Amino acid sequence: MAITKRTFDVVVVGAGGAGMRAALALSEAGLKVAVLSKVFPTRSHTVAAQGGIAASLGNVNEDNWLWHMYDTVKGSDYLGDQDAIEYMCRNAPEVVYELEHFGMPFDRLDSGKIYQRPFGGHMQDFGKNPVPRACAAADRTGHALLHTLYQQNVKANTNFFVEWMALDLIRDADGDVLGVVAMEIETSEVMILQARATLFATGGAGRIFSASTNAYINTGDGLGMAARAGIPLEDMEFFQFHPTGVHGAGVLITEGVRGEGGYLVNKDGERFMPRYAPNAKDLASRDVVSRAMATEIKEGRGCGPNGDHVLLKLDHLGDEVIRHRLPGIRDIALKFAHVDPSKAPIPVVPTAHYMMGGIPTNYRGQVVAPQGTAPDVVVQGFYAVGECACVSVHGANRLGCNSLLDLIVFGRAAARQIIEDLKNNPNPKALPADAADRPLARLARLENQKNGERVADVGDAMRKTMQTHCGVFRFPDLLAEGVLQIREVAERVRHTEITDKSKVFNTARIEALELDNLIEVAQATMTAAEARKESRGAHAREDFQDRDDKNWLKHSLYYSEGHRLDYKPVRLKPLTVDSFPLKARVY
Ligand code: FUM
Repeated sequence: MAITKRTFDVVVVGAGGAGMRAALALSEAGLKVAVLSKVFPTRSHTVAAQGGIAASLGNVNEDNWLWHMYDTVKGSDYLGDQDAIEYMCRNAPEVVYELEHFGMPFDRLDSGKIYQRPFGGHMQDFGKNPVPRACAAADRTGHALLHTLYQQNVKANTNFFVEWMALDLIRDADGDVLGVVAMEIETSEVMILQARATLFATGGAGRIFSASTNAYINTGDGLGMAARAGIPLEDMEFFQFHPTGVHGAGVLITEGVRGEGGYLVNKDGERFMPRYAPNAKDLASRDVVSRAMATEIKEGRGCGPNGDHVLLKLDHLGDEVIRHRLPGIRDIALKFAHVDPSKAPIPVVPTAHYMMGGIPTNYRGQVVAPQGTAPDVVVQGFYAVGECACVSVHGANRLGCNSLLDLIVFGRAAARQIIEDLKNNPNPKALPADAADRPLARLARLENQKNGERVADVGDAMRKTMQTHCGVFRFPDLLAEGVLQIREVAERVRHTEITDKSKVFNTARIEALELDNLIEVAQATMTAAEARKESRGAHAREDFQDRDDKNWLKHSLYYSEGHRLDYKPVRLKPLTVDSFPLKARVY
C-alpha cells in the first residue's frame, strides 16, 4: 500500500504545555515543525491543570530556588535526579516571566506582581514553613497557559495536525529515530511523518485506572510507542494519587483549595492531617496526604453511608474568596458533588493523577537508554518531555505545581538541544523499507479480527485490575496476582474486535489503538511495583514499609519484550551546588 510521506525538520507529538513550548522555540528558530494532536491543541490535558506553576519568585514571602530544589528532592523521596532538579528549579523564575511576557493572564497581587499561593511540600528555608510558590491564574492556570502558548505558536507559523494520532515510531537499523507513522482520525488516512528530530510530549496515562483525574485522551501513547520500539520505561511503579478527587466522579479539586486555607476532616469533624504531618498539616506532600486519607477511611473514620471518603472543608474561606480565587472549584463542586462549597464541605478521595515514570531522558530532553555498561546513551533523533518523560525531577513523588514547571522548563530545553543537534545533522537519513510495517500490521489485525472481544470490556478489565491491585497502599499478594492478571488482560488486548469498520471518524478504531498503549503502561506499572521491595514516595508496600536506600536507591527500567526489569543509579550530584544528603522524610 502506498503511503503519503511528508518531511519536517521536527515532529512534535502532543500539543500540551510541553509540546507547545518546545514547538514555539523550534518554529521561532526557523525550523519546519509539525505538531500532531489527537484533539484541538487547547483541549490537551494541560488545560485541566488548576492550582499553579511553581517558581521561587518570592512575591508574597521570601523564597529561593535552592529551597525549591531542596523541597523537590525531598518530595521525590530522594529518587529524583539532582542535576535535573537543579536545572528545573533554577530556571523556574525565568520561564514564568517568559510566560508572562507571552501574555499569560496570571492573577495579580495588589503590588501588581504575579499572585502566588502555598502548595503541598513547598516550604521556606529548607523545609521550615509553607511558602506561597504556586503562580496562579485563579484555579485555571493550565487553561491560561495553554491558550497563551497556542496563540504564540499560531504567530510563529507552527504546522498543526489536529485530530491526528501517532501510531508508531520509525527506527532504523542503527536504532536512530526518523519520525512517526500517524493516522488522521477523521479519515483513517495513514501517513509517514519523516523528521530529523522527533519529540514526544504525549502526556500521561491516568486512564490505566478506573478512578482518575485524567482526561480520556491520556492513554500513554508515547510510552506505548517507545516500548514497542524497544525503549525501556523508567520508574513506572511510581503513580501519584491526588488527595482530592471528587468522590464518585474523580474530577480534580485543586490542592490550591488547601493552599487558600481549606482542610480535610473525617466523620467526627476532626481535622486529621496534624496527626500525620504536624508541621505541614494539609500541605504535606501528596503521597503523605493520600495515605493519611486512606488510613482514616480504612480505620472506620470515613464519611457518608459507606464511610468511603473524607470531607474537604472550605466554607470558612467565605463566598468572596471562593468565587474570586477558586471559581472553577465552585463550579465542579456544584456540578459533580452537588454542594455549594461556601456552605458545605466537598466529599473527596485520593484519585489516580500523575505518572512519575516515563521515557528516560536527560535534562536536555534527549532520550537515553542503557548500552553495555553505560546507563545513559542518547537515542539519536529522539526526545521526550513532560509527563511522558522521566527526566527524573519527580522521583517517587511529584510536588504539586512542579508539573506545569516541568513542561515549560524541559519543553524549552529540548527545543534548544534539538536546534543544536540539527545544525550537525542537516540531511534526513533514508527511511527503512519497513518503516510503516508495524502500525499497518496493527491496523490489519483490527480489520481482520473475527469473534474478538469488545475494546470497552477489555479496557474495563485492565482498569479494574490496576485499581484493585496497584493503589495507594500495595499488598504483596495483590501485586503478585496483579502481574498475572494484567498479562492475561494483555493477551485479550491482542484479540479485540471493532465491529464498525468505517473509515470516517471511527473512534472505535482509535480506542482500540489507544488500548495497545495503555496495556504497555499498565504492565510496566504492575511489574515494576511488584518488584520494588521497599516503600518510597507514592509506592507504599504493606510488607516493606520503610525506604531502603541500601538496596533500592535506583531507577527501574522496564522492557516490554520479556517484561524484563533492569536498574540504573540515581544521579545524586547536582550541576553546580552540593548534593542534598539522604534523610528521613517528615513533614
Ligand atoms: O492540585 C492541583 O491543582 C494540581 C496541580 C498539579 O498536579 O500540579
